[in-house]
Amino acid sequence: MQIVRTLPELRAACAALRATAPRLGLVPTMGALHAGHGALVAASVAGGAATIASIFVNPLQFGPTEDLTRYPRDEAGDLAKLQAWGCGLVWLPGVETMYPADGATAIVPAGPAEGWEGAARPGHFRGVATVVAKLFGQVGAETAYFGEKDWQQLQVVRRMVADLHLPVAVIGVPTVREPDGLALSSRNRYLTTAERARAPTLHRALSRAATTLARGAAAASVLTTERAALERDGFAVDYLALVDGMSLRAIDAVRPGARLIVAARLGAVRLIDNIASG
Ligand code: PAF
Repeated sequence: MQIVRTLPELRAACAALRATAPRLGLVPTMGALHAGHGALVAASVAGGAATIASIFVNPLQFGPTEDLTRYPRDEAGDLAKLQAWGCGLVWLPGVETMYPADGATAIVPAGPAEGWEGAARPGHFRGVATVVAKLFGQVGAETAYFGEKDWQQLQVVRRMVADLHLPVAVIGVPTVREPDGLALSSRNRYLTTAERARAPTLHRALSRAATTLARGAAAASVLTTERAALERDGFAVDYLALVDGMSLRAIDAVRPGARLIVAARLGAVRLIDNIASG
């Protein structure tokens, strides 16, 4: 596995990979890798692509109240995992490469970026879309892999790719869960033992809501019931909603492609999750 830190090195390494593989697959990450990232790399490798993972903790997607310096970093551990998962190349750019001092361009997504995480974290999707567009331009991969865990992010990236006619196929990879249903996330490490024991309630509430909705119950009452159940369990619910899976607009009845999305705080940790509901 090759490790590169500058754009000229990246270009040379991608050109060399192109000579040996039919396609390049990009897995963008911010490090702190877990089995969820492993599933993204596995999907790329299984698709026959030479796989390039990027590790860049993107300052542009952190709000002023979010602690960028506290974001977990473990370069050596991440590299060992990527090697074991079959990654061919790791791109580790510095901030000065991604955001040169004279840089003047950003992507400002609307549509699926509005509401939910977009409302809770102003500027977040501007940061995500901008860095992902840069990574697409730098690597030039034919396919890129994103986790369904960040469902809204996946739709923002898909919309950007369609709107800007970017020559990359965006593949969503199903959420990897702990045996008790908790979606894997780099934030889970911040849960106390008691919070960790309660955290799977979030997925249970989503599953129960999906089942009740499938039986024909009214969305508004299902969402009110599950929100109250989460609050009784100690969650501060930011949102629990039934949305169209592509536009992220709230809907009042299940339909194909619908998604149940949730964000809730357990102590100091903000968890998000989603499941299909239609
Ligand atoms: O999902 C993430 O880890 C990040 O938002 C991404 C896509 C790597 C962009 O920084």
